[in-house]
Amino acid sequence: MPRIKPPKPGSRPDDTSLLGRLKLFRADMFRSQPERLYTAQMARMRTPLYSSFLINQPDLVRTVLDERPADFPKSDIIAGTLKPLLGNSVFVTNGDIWDRQRRMIDPAFEAGRLRESFAAMRGAGEAALTRLREGKTEIEFETAHLAADVIFRTLFSIPITESRAREVFEAFRAYQRAQPLLSLLDLMRAPKWVPRRYRGREHAHVIRTLLSALVSERQELIAAGRAPDDLATKIMTTVDPATGEVFSLEDMVDQVAIFFLAGHETSAAALSWGLYCLACDPEAQRDVVDEVHAIVGEQGAFEFAHVPKLRFTRDVFREVLRLYPPVPMMVREAAKPERFRNTKVPPGSLCLISPWHMHRHQTYWDAPDVFDPWRWQDEATRHVAKEAYLPFSKGERVCSGAGFAMLEGVLLLAMIVREFHISPCAEVPVPVAHLTVRAENGIWLNLSRRV
Ligand code: HEM
Repeated sequence: MPRIKPPKPGSRPDDTSLLGRLKLFRADMFRSQPERLYTAQMARMRTPLYSSFLINQPDLVRTVLDERPADFPKSDIIAGTLKPLLGNSVFVTNGDIWDRQRRMIDPAFEAGRLRESFAAMRGAGEAALTRLREGKTEIEFETAHLAADVIFRTLFSIPITESRAREVFEAFRAYQRAQPLLSLLDLMRAPKWVPRRYRGREHAHVIRTLLSALVSERQELIAAGRAPDDLATKIMTTVDPATGEVFSLEDMVDQVAIFFLAGHETSAAALSWGLYCLACDPEAQRDVVDEVHAIVGEQGAFEFAHVPKLRFTRDVFREVLRLYPPVPMMVREAAKPERFRNTKVPPGSLCLISPWHMHRHQTYWDAPDVFDPWRWQDEATRHVAKEAYLPFSKGERVCSGAGFAMLEGVLLLAMIVREFHISPCAEVPVPVAHLTVRAENGIWLNLSRRV
């Protein structure tokens, strides 16, 4: 059966003027990029004040993310746009503060603890199966609801039906719609006195007030010895071996905000694109269903031990993360003068690492725009992936939730596809870069329960 080529955004012509590029960037970062980024090893992008370098060459990506991360700290343009929501969370900090935060967060996400989050994830999946209706469905809304439910249940042991969880979810949706991934003014390195309009500021305030109440309630439960054994309790009781301290209330609100943002936006994006690809590829959908029937049964409850055996479903999820990496671009800054491919990279230059372009790069991948989950069975693909596949980034700042997200993605895809037959609607979703890779007008699918 011929494989499908799911939608990819258009690129701008090479000769677009600076003004034209800026206008395009404002509308959608993807369409402001030229087509040559899918073949180039590196591209310099000049703005009036600074240069940025988009790096697609695997050894240079390794240098920046893996080998010398201290020389390429996270750029403050990320902190700029996200600060009102994330404060000093682990996502935006650098140096000693970041180091301390990771020491306290990582134990909660260790592979050994994933098993403890499994029942909560499955509970969220079961709730989604009763919520979903047959017929034409906007699946991005449903997966956002589901992924937010997973985060609430695993972090705070509460389902999304609880009124505060619902309020946080709604405020996050409003924030996501209002806030671009990067501020154009920041990207151009406009001076700090040029006023920025952070449109998500009011929503950020609502979210932080709600999260603050949840965290302080949890502090009381911990003090009274009555706290549930979930991720929030684990993180809030982890003592930093270097300082002997636990996270303060403010610190913890910062971290919880990033778990919600990084944890539900990304997983929701991956799940909805995954369901879309399966809807368009009946053979892949059939293979997932057959695998789930063979491993879990037609009715049986999903158990933690089933998930590693769902090999093809995992390959589907990997392929979706390749074609639609939820975090399309990572931004670092050169701390000192560098030379890349015989080009001077002055200190302060932005180094952009783009999973989006690496994953569809014509030099590295065969048929890069084709959805082909079977490719992951080849040694050759796994070899390419070591160099050119980084949906969770790499190096010391690799996503803290990568193992959690893989467990969640495979489980929820399997649960939904076992219950529903899915097919595409007439509307073709066009990917746009918001905080994550979303579809411009949502993703519409037809759902019908399998008999
Ligand atoms: C499919 C789902 C996910 C994807 C594709 C993803 C991807 C990423 C990527 C690419 C980064 C690096 C960003 C950068 O360096 O600029 C990152 C960082 C991070 N992610 Fe994820 N993520 C996912 C799910 C999660 C989940 C479920 C959690 C937690 C519940 C999480 C927590 C974090 C945190 C805390 C960071 C910051 C790490 C640091 O800077 O040290 N992510 N994620």
